[in-house]
Amino acid sequence: MSAAPRSREVVLDIDRLTIGFGGLVALANVSFDVYEGEIASLIGPNGAGKTTAFNAITGFLSVSGDSIRYRGKRLNGLRPNQIADLGVVRTFQKTSVFAANTVTDNIMIGLHRHAGARLWEILLARPRVRDEESRLRAQAGEILEMMGLSAHAEELGGALPYGEQRLLEVAVALAAKPTLLLLDEPVSGMNPSETARFMAMLGRIRAGGITILLVEHDMRMVMGVSDRVIVLNQGAIIAEGAPEEIQRNPEVIRAYLGHGADKRRASKREAGRA
Ligand SMILES: Nc1ncnc2c1ncn2[C@@H]1O[C@H](COP(=O)(O)OP(=O)(O)O)[C@@H](O)[C@H]1O
Ligand SMILES: [Mg+2]
Repeated sequence: MSAAPRSREVVLDIDRLTIGFGGLVALANVSFDVYEGEIASLIGPNGAGKTTAFNAITGFLSVSGDSIRYRGKRLNGLRPNQIADLGVVRTFQKTSVFAANTVTDNIMIGLHRHAGARLWEILLARPRVRDEESRLRAQAGEILEMMGLSAHAEELGGALPYGEQRLLEVAVALAAKPTLLLLDEPVSGMNPSETARFMAMLGRIRAGGITILLVEHDMRMVMGVSDRVIVLNQGAIIAEGAPEEIQRNPEVIRAYLGHGADKRRASKREAGRA
């Protein structure tokens, strides 16, 4: 699945991104690129700064300066919706589906946001909007088809099995028509067969022309789907390369993949108990 990216054009350019929370430096001078059409993964131990990087890129955390560029446009200082309008869309680490809305309506809400229809127009179902409505409903159907969720279209979001809820979140993100999709631990909590299904789905999304930046702890998935892996540790990049290179990189093994990771987690747990 990890076919080489068709081109080497940089789409996302992170240049010396630094983020602090009070005394804590969450990201220190972090630089990396994401190339058009690739699946790149950002990995690292808990607390390494992965979600913080996602928050900065997507405007959920405001960062001054000129450290984040997408297709040449500066993202620093833009709001999340402005960044989404430029094609950069993310999912969240925790599930965020509308539990009381149907699967189709979850997607429709995303599509309406993108189409810019005003809520009162939708609610009054004005004729102009009704045309729009059937067009969007067809689009929602296509997205559900692609995510393998068609059979659940009329079920409530909250009634879906966990794995399908996570697929729905990705479907909602796709409704915003991203060109760069950022996924934060999309398979956490999924069982192996749901994870395998999700991996196949990622391939399809990428084949549809969407570049993917993935944060994920499931190493089988990361090594299986990524063209390139970027490793963060304590707010700094310690390695970057093809999955095979990363798997045998001594520093990565020490910090994350090997015993170091277990020890760190254990000591965190101890600290948590103290
Ligand atoms: N809003 C915040 N305020 C204070 N500290 C934060 C905030 N968000 C993240 N952090 C801290 O920044 C560090 C990186 O966190 P995060 O980006 O969530 O790591 P990861 O996603 O790699 O597990 C952690 O030490 C975390 O506690
Ligand atoms: Mg995180």
